[in-house]
Amino acid sequence: MIVTIDGPAGAGKSTVSRALAARLGYRHLDTGAMYRAVTLVVLETGDDPVAVARAGAWAARLDDPALRSGAVDAEVSSVSAIGAVREALRAEQRAFLALGDAVAEGRDIGSVVWPEAELKVWLDASPEERRRRRAVERGAEAGEAALERDRRDAAQTIVPEGSVPVDTEGLTVDEVVEAIARLVEERA
Ligand code: DC
Repeated sequence: MIVTIDGPAGAGKSTVSRALAARLGYRHLDTGAMYRAVTLVVLETGDDPVAVARAGAWAARLDDPALRSGAVDAEVSSVSAIGAVREALRAEQRAFLALGDAVAEGRDIGSVVWPEAELKVWLDASPEERRRRRAVERGAEAGEAALERDRRDAAQTIVPEGSVPVDTEGLTVDEVVEAIARLVEERA
């Protein structure tokens, strides 16, 4: 089964998706990390983002701690707004999901990348809560930056048709994972 988890920055997508994939024994696809890895290589080399996305060297950087740096945060929205970059990465994402059972997180997964997913979740929380979470993880400046990035990413962030809204406000990670795991069981 393919489970998609889309939503804005700070809604809890990464933490929840990772924990859900572990609990279900599914593979995990963090598409934000792919856009970040392309951005990191662009910042390091100065190469054209489309050429970088197509060449694939970014794939070796998916676990690099520098993906979460302020420099990448500041640039990733402009790289991910380029249509040809999105097409190159979407092709990789579809190839990964075609292999079956996975939890995939991002902004456009249930809407554009894999609209036929058996379960599509729209994960959200209030702007104040999302700012607070980023600030706890990475400092006050990162909290502000996450909301600013959201505004720039709005065009890429699409609520999928047929998605189930899950509001993470006031819930623990375990509670959110449990709620989504129940939806998976209902649809299995
Ligand atoms: O989820 P994240 O913060 O790691 O995502 C990093 C950036 O990548 C974010 O600014 C939006 C962009 N992104 C996107 O455009 N489409 C996706 N499917 C995932 C992320």
